Amino acid sequence: MSTTQIRRIAINTGGGDAPGLNAVIRAATLAALARGWEVWGVRHGYRGLLDMSHLVPLTAESVRGITHRGGSVLGTANRGNPFELPVKTDSGTVTVDRSAEVVANFRARGLDALVCIGGDGSLRIAHRFVQKGIPVVGVPKTIDNDLSGTVVTFGFDTAVGTATDAIDKLHTTAEAHERVMVVEVMGRYAGWIALNSGLSGGADVILIPELPFDIAKVCEKIQRREAAGRRFSIVVVAEGARPLGGELTTRGPKEAGREVLLGGIGQRVAEEIARLTGKETRALVLGHLQRGGGPTTFDRLLGLRFGAAAVRALAEGKVNVMVALDPPQVKTIDLGQAIERIKTVPLDSDTVLTARSLGVCLGD
Ligand code: F6P
Repeated sequence: MSTTQIRRIAINTGGGDAPGLNAVIRAATLAALARGWEVWGVRHGYRGLLDMSHLVPLTAESVRGITHRGGSVLGTANRGNPFELPVKTDSGTVTVDRSAEVVANFRARGLDALVCIGGDGSLRIAHRFVQKGIPVVGVPKTIDNDLSGTVVTFGFDTAVGTATDAIDKLHTTAEAHERVMVVEVMGRYAGWIALNSGLSGGADVILIPELPFDIAKVCEKIQRREAAGRRFSIVVVAEGARPLGGELTTRGPKEAGREVLLGGIGQRVAEEIARLTGKETRALVLGHLQRGGGPTTFDRLLGLRFGAAAVRALAEGKVNVMVALDPPQVKTIDLGQAIERIKTVPLDSDTVLTARSLGVCLGD
């Protein structure tokens, strides 16, 4: 598609929200308006492309003063994949494919391209629309930081900051009560949030999905600290962590058309620690606090850079790509390549080696 063909674009935000979404929306909108393009916001993830009453015009006025705001002015949804929409029938829930309606609606509204701000799941859906003829530029969003091809996704820095603040606070109460505090953080199948916040917050144990843990090693570490007079410990557990030879802990069965929800491993680890060490132990789940609030400076700037870069890519005739941070540049990479596999923590990475040098127990 050449530059001259773009007249009208749509922007959607899919999947779980991440701090920085509004910065991307603002930058992409202003950059597109500056080129004389019309910009439409798709409300509620992909749902707005099925029911076009969810399309809203984006103007300089509607994106004013939103860079610092969390959430998404367009709303978002991590259900409602048009390729697999759940429908209740007498014999249970089945999924139906309504993607052809999305394509027809897109064309009927004269839209030339979609800027899809999403994580792994939403960008996979976007890629399926590419194959159905919708030109897409992806923008990598997720607090989990698990998208390949970009050094970092926006939202991650804010989530790590929130988790680190929580760990700092847990230290004081853990020390006062001489307890073990176990905190479960998000991240799905990747340990980025756990590792970065655990290390920054001075955790004693960090358990990540990439390294199945041995609970005996975790307890040894706590008991070594106890013997040295350090009568409290902080354990950070990624929601996707699992014991050696064990399974992931999930919250209920997988619902049709959406990812299975992880959670509960923190409580299990806390119970095991209490049983094996006799220490008073408490668990908490940080949960959606990690997605809430305004973005850090880093995420605001990255969001603005990604939004502007997405429009530049379209203006240069690049579609079916994802913008990606490759410091100091924001570049574009093939969308298909970006979603081929998720980005997990390399066990030989400098951050893992740093944790080991500091004596942090990684459960192995
Ligand atoms: O992908 C972002 C994320 O926050 C994950 O870290 C977490 O597993 C999931 O979304 C939670 O989803 P929900 O908002 O549906 O509870």
